Amino acid sequence: MAAQNQPSALRSIIDIVGFLLLAVAHIIYAIIKAAIPNSYKQHKSIKNEIVLITGGGGGLGKLLSLRLAKLGAIIVVWDVNESGLKETVHAVEEQGGRAYSYKCDITNREDVYKTAERVAREVGEITILINNAGVVSGYLLLDTPDHLIQRTFDVNAISHFWTTKAFLPYMIQKNHGHIITVASMAGHTGTKKLVDYCSSKFAAVGFDEALRVELEALGISGVKTTLVCPYFIESTGMFGDVQSRFVGVLKSVDVADRIVKGILLEEIYVFMPSIFRYTFWTKWIFPWAIVSMYLRNIVPDAAPRPTQATQRKVSTCKVERIKANILNSANDAHSISVNERKL
Ligand SMILES: NC(=O)c1ccc[n+]([C@@H]2O[C@H](COP(=O)([O-])OP(=O)(O)OC[C@H]3O[C@@H](n4cnc5c(N)ncnc54)[C@H](O)[C@@H]3O)[C@@H](O)[C@H]2O)c1
Ligand SMILES: *[C@@H]1O[C@H](CO)[C@@H](O)[C@H](O)[C@H]1NC(C)=O
Repeated sequence: MAAQNQPSALRSIIDIVGFLLLAVAHIIYAIIKAAIPNSYKQHKSIKNEIVLITGGGGGLGKLLSLRLAKLGAIIVVWDVNESGLKETVHAVEEQGGRAYSYKCDITNREDVYKTAERVAREVGEITILINNAGVVSGYLLLDTPDHLIQRTFDVNAISHFWTTKAFLPYMIQKNHGHIITVASMAGHTGTKKLVDYCSSKFAAVGFDEALRVELEALGISGVKTTLVCPYFIESTGMFGDVQSRFVGVLKSVDVADRIVKGILLEEIYVFMPSIFRYTFWTKWIFPWAIVSMYLRNIVPDAAPRPTQATQRKVSTCKVERIKANILNSANDAHSISVNERKL
């Protein structure tokens, strides 16, 4: 019975040939597009568009607010940090722009939906959503308290569902909108001390890709998505003194400029440094030992904020204690339960 619904062999051949021809056309188009200097490309106007930036009370979110406001967009910033929100609004207004701030904890679904309704009533409909807020724990997995793992996923991944569900309906209705996912290079490669962070960013990368395919399958051509994947950025609130070898940490102003360009050109991917876009896939091909050597050397220690250094001393780290116990045989290794929860 199912066979009756299956396309015929001829139909499949036509589909495959059609796919190959279109693929070649798209490759040629992409090559031509890549050869055109950016200054000749069509930049979309965001004048009077209402942009929502989560985590707009600090770091990258604030820099994006200032740049997008300069281009005529009306800025709405959400954050849990009220003084940060005030600073962003003040800075935008100082340069002659319009900005509104709302205290909203994006890990709280009800808070997201309620605040979204308030924004629609008080400012207007959001047509550009930048899911930018993010957090990092920065401990070895067994040293990471459960609630920080939960928070990492709630902020970096799950919140995208609530904000997108709040604002996508209007964008679809108008067939006009843009959803930007600020993920990370950590959404493509794993790193020590960032097990929760990397996996939450992998989730964000998947969110962007699946959403984009879904919108395209539904024929909603006017709602765009952009995936942003920067390497470590200096001088935001996130990673304080991260150690990076061979690849320099990025300047937050450069990252903000690059994201704005990606938005205006409706780029699908914004990788920084851009070369990484062409290197990720090699991890599926080279022996894992090489990939691991590379990952362990390029980021010797990704733990953020030097002020927490005392909490991260190797001697107090649970994995080290377990290992030491096994080596000394002094204690039963299980006297330190792997399941012990830190709160
Ligand atoms: N800093 C880096 O090295 C780096 C590298 C790659 C990607 N990123 C990503 O860029 C984005 C911006 O990072 P940043 O460097 O500006 O960090 P940041 O810490 O300076 O800013 C993040 C903002 O998000 C806010 N926030 C946190 N939890 C929230 C919640 N529950 N609800 C609402 N707001 C909340 C914070 O208060 C803060 O203002 C993040 O998604 C981050 O993961 C950062
Ligand atoms: C809140 O934002 C202010 C202003 O940017 C900043 O000084 C402060 O460190 C932030 N607080 C937290 C908890 O991130």
